[in-house]
Amino acid sequence: MLGAALLSSGAQAPLPPEPRTPALLLGAAWYPEQWSEARWEADLQLMQKAGITFVRVGEFAWARMEPTEGQYDFTWMDHAVRAAEKHGIAVVLGTPGATPPAWLTQRYPETLRTLADGRKDHHGDREQFDFTSAKYRELLGRVDEQMANRFGHDANVIGWQIDNEIGNESYGEDTRLQFQDWLQAKYGTLDALNTRWTTEYWSERYTDWRQIPIQESYGNPGLLLNWKEFVSDTWRSYDRFQLDILRKNADKRQKITTNMMGWFDAYDHYTVAQDLDFASWDDYVGTGHLNLARNGAAHDLTRGFLRKNFWVMETQPGSVNWSAANNALDKGEVRAMAWHAIGHGAQAVEFWQWRSALNGQEQYHGTLVGADGTPVPLYGEVQQIGAEFAKAASALEGTSVDSQVAILQDYESRWAINWQRHNRVFDPVTTLLEYYEPLRARARSIDIVQDTAPLSRYKLVVAPALNLLTPAAVANLQAYVRGGGHLVLTQRSAMKDEDNSLFPERQPGPLVEMLGARVEQWYALDKAVPISGSWGSGEDHVWAEQLSVRSPETEVLMRYGKSNGWLDGQPAAVTRKVGKGRLTYIGAGLDGATLPRAVAWMLEQSGLQPVMPGVPATVDVSIRSGAGKRIVLLTNYDSTPTSVALPHAMTDILTGKTVSSVTLNQYGVAVLQ
Ligand code: GLA
Ligand code: GLA
Repeated sequence: MLGAALLSSGAQAPLPPEPRTPALLLGAAWYPEQWSEARWEADLQLMQKAGITFVRVGEFAWARMEPTEGQYDFTWMDHAVRAAEKHGIAVVLGTPGATPPAWLTQRYPETLRTLADGRKDHHGDREQFDFTSAKYRELLGRVDEQMANRFGHDANVIGWQIDNEIGNESYGEDTRLQFQDWLQAKYGTLDALNTRWTTEYWSERYTDWRQIPIQESYGNPGLLLNWKEFVSDTWRSYDRFQLDILRKNADKRQKITTNMMGWFDAYDHYTVAQDLDFASWDDYVGTGHLNLARNGAAHDLTRGFLRKNFWVMETQPGSVNWSAANNALDKGEVRAMAWHAIGHGAQAVEFWQWRSALNGQEQYHGTLVGADGTPVPLYGEVQQIGAEFAKAASALEGTSVDSQVAILQDYESRWAINWQRHNRVFDPVTTLLEYYEPLRARARSIDIVQDTAPLSRYKLVVAPALNLLTPAAVANLQAYVRGGGHLVLTQRSAMKDEDNSLFPERQPGPLVEMLGARVEQWYALDKAVPISGSWGSGEDHVWAEQLSVRSPETEVLMRYGKSNGWLDGQPAAVTRKVGKGRLTYIGAGLDGATLPRAVAWMLEQSGLQPVMPGVPATVDVSIRSGAGKRIVLLTNYDSTPTSVALPHAMTDILTGKTVSSVTLNQYGVAVLQ
């Protein structure tokens, strides 16, 4: 049974028949296996006092769960789950694949991964297993099954995390055989593979599947892409076999996730996420301070994996231990960051970790209690978050982010550009964020989704550097524009097909006809190029595409000024009305002068009004709606107090007052209904 703290949002209501997961959860990563049981009670008391409503347990404890092969010990875990329950603290259990016991890799060395240079990984760190090893899955499956049997119907266990931050690949012989089999299943014949990879290039032609190597950063573009797709499918199946075991043995109310890592791109997150119940990610700032655009967009990205609310499965209690300078976030910043996450659709915020092990690799990482087991200064701030989550949970119940603007991103396009950047400062994520920031400042809610997602709900869809288009994506984008949507493609878009081959047309490939314009040539820049037109005057710094107009209906919005001769006076951005829809192509990189005007133009063309336009730029505005409610979340990042006039009188949920304006100190938060 979950305790009062966990159900505080519905305090007056009768208890539901089954424990449910509240709309806002505050958590900590807790490692009871690192401490004597006598210590647990003190920790749990402190957690309860801080308003912590769940702990994540077990993801690195395989050696404790199975001290020798086939001998399982879950007594300690059972005690931990029961002890937490007494304090109204629910449990998310981690399956332990990230850290196999020493006996396991000693007895089965074939389960260790092979590094890119051919050496074997070793015991003593994490993720040292081979993600393609059948033996590893057999051994892990057994312990997962034991866990699921033991805790699958436990009322205090609300969910599962599979592994921990998966992503380490293996490059051994067995993996290569599996990759070759994967290719054979995909292509059927070597003729098909040879054609689609253009293996006439450099005599690459394959006459036997077993000749095909693994290439992972420099190689045939078709092979590189297929390797990444194989990796993604393999991670999906690594999660999937565990999901199947858990689902077979556990109550449906126990929801299952794996913790991902924001902009990390080692696998296609859409492929891996599709089988999960919910998406989650580990949100770390590292050096410096919260970057609203980068972090906010990573929340939106994670929300986009399954197009619903997500969890922040880990975040830093002040500081980390792995960055260049592990500075602490400012006083108040951790709380602002937690509410910023909620504003973007997080249901849970969990701190990593509760307390540092006395030994082990991460002794310097931020925690909520010190080596002496008593609260560190940040504890009080977390306690405030706990109290506020309890207050605001019922208001946020049933709400999420509702966007009319989407940004498209996909892993294939990011990989394709990163393998051949052509100008090494051209970073696809940076490009996406350049558009994200001014769009969000006006629209307040942005979805980040893949190019095959349903788009008809959006008035505006912006595709920054959408380099690679599958036939399904092409059809989706064309249908979106024909249906009345406004699609904006930016530089390097629509250059390649599903094989990472160049389209046999100029950019934007299959969309040239609809656009009535095309890219004549692209240029990596070594110096700034002036641009001017409808969006004012500015400079393009990294990349420029010379456009040409081929239809009288296509309008030139921006032109290049004098530069390398080729670009001088040529179109830099064009747009065409297509029925009720519109297709725009931006071939120039925009800057601080032109980008805000371009974005304002996009919104206007799409019939969108800026949301709460008078709010100062240093205040982040997030809106969650649903169940007949509209909640506005404000966080202030200016070092001086900042006032925000509200469009109408609202209830400040944290203070209980009705207000028509709020004044926020630096890192101040308001949750308004
Ligand atoms: C070398 C090689 C060519 C080609 C060019 C590209 O000269 O001989 O095959 O790779 O570089 O600049
Ligand atoms: C990752 C891991 C955690 C911990 C933190 C430290 O997110 O999942 O186990 O190592 O980093 O920041």
